[in-house]
Amino acid sequence: MEEKIYDVPSEWKHRAYLDDAGYRAKYEASVKNPEAFWAEEAKRIHWFKPPTRIKNTNFGPENVSIRWFEDGVTNVAYNCIDRHLHTRGDQVAIIWEGDNPSESKKITYRELHAEVNRMANIMRNRGVGKGDRVTIYMPMIPEAAYAMLACARLGAIHSVVFGGFSPDSLASRIQDAKSAFVITADEGLRGGRKVPLKVNVDAAIETVGPGVVDHVLVVRRTGGAVNMVPGRDVYYDEAAKLVSDDCPYEEMNAEDPLFILYTSGSTGTPKGVLHTTGGYLVYAAMTHNYVFDYHDGDIYWCTADVGWVTGHSYIVYGPLANGATTLMFEGVPTYPTISRFWDVIDKHQVNIFYTAPTAIRSLMQAGEEPVKKTSRKSLRLLGSVGEPINPEAWEWYHRVVGDGRCPIVDTWWQTETGGILITPLPGATKLKPGSATRPFFGVKPQVVDAEGKVLEGACEGNLVIADSWPGQMRTVYGDHERFVQTYFSTYPGKYFTGDGCRRDADGYYWITGRVDDVINVSGHRMGTAEVESALVAHPKVSEAAVVGYPHDIKGQGIYAYVTLMAGEQPSEDLRKELVAWVRKEIGPIASPDLIQFAPGLPKTRSGKIMRRILRKIAEDEFGSLGDTSTLADPTVVDDLITNRQNKR
Ligand code: WTA
Repeated sequence: MEEKIYDVPSEWKHRAYLDDAGYRAKYEASVKNPEAFWAEEAKRIHWFKPPTRIKNTNFGPENVSIRWFEDGVTNVAYNCIDRHLHTRGDQVAIIWEGDNPSESKKITYRELHAEVNRMANIMRNRGVGKGDRVTIYMPMIPEAAYAMLACARLGAIHSVVFGGFSPDSLASRIQDAKSAFVITADEGLRGGRKVPLKVNVDAAIETVGPGVVDHVLVVRRTGGAVNMVPGRDVYYDEAAKLVSDDCPYEEMNAEDPLFILYTSGSTGTPKGVLHTTGGYLVYAAMTHNYVFDYHDGDIYWCTADVGWVTGHSYIVYGPLANGATTLMFEGVPTYPTISRFWDVIDKHQVNIFYTAPTAIRSLMQAGEEPVKKTSRKSLRLLGSVGEPINPEAWEWYHRVVGDGRCPIVDTWWQTETGGILITPLPGATKLKPGSATRPFFGVKPQVVDAEGKVLEGACEGNLVIADSWPGQMRTVYGDHERFVQTYFSTYPGKYFTGDGCRRDADGYYWITGRVDDVINVSGHRMGTAEVESALVAHPKVSEAAVVGYPHDIKGQGIYAYVTLMAGEQPSEDLRKELVAWVRKEIGPIASPDLIQFAPGLPKTRSGKIMRRILRKIAEDEFGSLGDTSTLADPTVVDDLITNRQNKR
């Protein structure tokens, strides 16, 4: 198949920060002398005490440790708000677009300053200070950003939990972080439906047990009646009336923690990815600036939820550090109509639009008309994140949404990386649909084979990063050993991404998806082990194995093989019951798409489930099951295949 290549459009040659030669020169400089390069880039944020020690990082095998700008002193909220006040106090910082198109508002930097300070004072009056953990469980309303920035102002560490997670998932995150302060809303609103956030918080606190959560701050979103526990729960609007809109910021060391964000891995419960202050902010700001070719006055919209890292780095911290106008959208792409994204773009004259392939694939199904009836003239640049974008979706995004005018930046990165690592730069990089193209400044990707041998030239293998960049996570909260084990033990001395990757003859990177037991469902990361443990918690389930399979819209779907307890019979009702059970245990994003009842699972003689085989069956690739002779009972495979085929 002939590979399509899109040149840089001519108007971009005039406006972009860098052309191809500029990219190459800057990239060379960044990897040749990282110290000098990052010392210069650090100046894009304000330091109360500028760093003199720039890079102090060690990928092991011994003493894995990552420190950037380690003697610098700064504050993230100061950088995202205060320092802009004298130049852009009256500029809009946040455009908020509500679930219902009749609701929207604009918050200037001056107003943002007042709101964040009030929220910080409310927290400070209740004892929140440097190093304390605050859990944020919010809908997509400006108060979610205020809460994050208020934590940053006080030096408290926020842990944002996506509002779609269940009370149990919330409880385990509150527990792991030992978070005494929770910020939530009465209810969320998405696609016209209410999400019972406060009810979920109450249930989570019940699960966590007494003595952990002392305070719950409740933002009134819908005004729905909720249970308020005296002495513990307080409404934000009532508390805000009693405090001033001036709150001093803490001076923070560059390596003081900024936030914890829980994310799924191959094994065990979600881990608390810890990001720190200075390096994270420099990296988020710089990538936002270059990748989105952000210029003063641009209206920028990232459709992610602040519950994910994309929302952290590219709705809140990167854009606000750059003094941008960032749009926050409460709703969903299909409400009230399937044109909603494009209507919002026209309504707010959005220039830069950043979304996930799963959204594109689902909107594609409705054809071009819902897009074409809108103008989208303001659009200049499109972005993609979260999962590989298939060339068909890329082409549609480019041709239909962008009218063939707008470059697409396909940005590869992870919760762990803090910011974008592999991406085109819109004025510099020729695009190939489906490829995240080339490394960002300072990033040294390598492709290795299973033994860890570094492959050269055009090749395919596993993606590792050979050296640190400032936005990298520093540790797993409370478990540094797990950090070392997870990321630095597979290929000693290198950061292992968990992704497979191909590099072509032009040096372009093509991410092929996870090579571990993490699956990517509609751009959401999910550990198969988490879904399995939810399933086996059901009294009728004896064993479960979960794998991903190709899904037209979600990218990957969740395929669960379930063995029932002796005496239990498979049935359609039980299937539904199990799906509902997983939704309740983890959240709707973990709902299995397919459940296959299996009398036995393929195991080695030592009892290990051979997921490779289950994966192949789920993918309908019965011909390539590989060696099944080591199985304790090879006949279970035939049964699994028969049932899989029967379902078709
Ligand atoms: C996948 C989201 C291909 C990848 C920012 C990675 C991608 C995981 C891309 C991280 C992309 C993200 N192309 N795959 N442009 N972006 N991924 O932590 O498998 O939620 O490891 O971070 O998403 O997901 P996470």
